[in-house]
Amino acid sequence: MSANVVAANAGSIERAADELARGRLVAFPTETVYGLGADAANPAAVRAIFAAKGRPPDHPLIVHLPDATHLDAWARDVPPGARALARAFWPGPLTLVLPRAPLASDEVTGGQDTVGVRVPAHPVARELLAAFAARGGHGIAAPSANRYGHVSPTTAAHVADDLGERVALILDGGPCDVGIESTIVAFDGERALLMRPGGLGVDAIAHVLGRAPGSPSQGAPRTSGSHASHYAPRTAAFLVDAHALAAELARLADRDEDVAVLARTAPRPAEFEGRWIDAPRDAEAYARDLYANLRALDASPSDAILIEAPPDEAAWLAVRDRLARATHR
Ligand code: TXA
Ligand code: MG
Repeated sequence: MSANVVAANAGSIERAADELARGRLVAFPTETVYGLGADAANPAAVRAIFAAKGRPPDHPLIVHLPDATHLDAWARDVPPGARALARAFWPGPLTLVLPRAPLASDEVTGGQDTVGVRVPAHPVARELLAAFAARGGHGIAAPSANRYGHVSPTTAAHVADDLGERVALILDGGPCDVGIESTIVAFDGERALLMRPGGLGVDAIAHVLGRAPGSPSQGAPRTSGSHASHYAPRTAAFLVDAHALAAELARLADRDEDVAVLARTAPRPAEFEGRWIDAPRDAEAYARDLYANLRALDASPSDAILIEAPPDEAAWLAVRDRLARATHR
């Protein structure tokens, strides 16, 4: 692993806060995925994120805050529904997209009138945000710490594989608990819109708002994760129903194709010789392991990755969203 990976502790977190204050990039764990952080109030530092990721500059970033008291520095006209969600779910895997306040530069917002904000729950992220605030910092802009379009990182090793020396410091806080990105809710006036399903379930959001968030129409704010092909392994990946998996494997074996499989309930055929991973059966554990599993299968010498389609149920919404993008071609 690259030399810039350090165990997250009081000393390395202070060092990371110094790097941020100097306009440099630091990768750090959140409860969802690892983030590639920069001083959100420093446009030059924010531009360095786009260069390191290879991400188009008009894709907005999420600003990570130490706590909800910092919300009004970044956003204005915050509707009561958004405040209720912040109270209920911060710190946690929820991002709010709100009208931007002057601190939110075009670099952070991709030139849009809105800004994405969230308070992460991971103790290392919280300590880093506090240490950065103690140096006068207003927030840390951080996309997932992967190269653009690639699978998000859930370990420090994933970050090092993707970004290596492009980042000053990678804080290693172990594997992420949630494993997929935050749920993004935008507000169009009082109306809540689900921009991206994620680590926080839609039912919990509906419970607080008293109604389910709507689905974004065209003309709504852009979300880079909403591009059809995203979160994608390099090897071509396909969703296959459990009952069709064995036949599909036999067909590919006849064509001498090397295949890797992410199964969940389907049994491994006795004659199967490729890389096979049995993913957890419940949605939460499946999500936690998903990106590590996709990276492991991608690293195996295969011509294709077959993924057993998970159930079409509410608990699987975010996982199904990511798998649809990982398999889009
Ligand atoms: O869990 C997460 O959200 C992780 C961790 C690091 O916090 N971050 C993350 O960032 O997933 P990123 O940049 O990979 O995805 C954030 C998404 C992008 O699709 C971006 O377009 C969207 O949030 N976003 C940010 N600000 C927005 C805005 N003002 N309007 C619409 N979408 C926005
Ligand atoms: Mg991302």
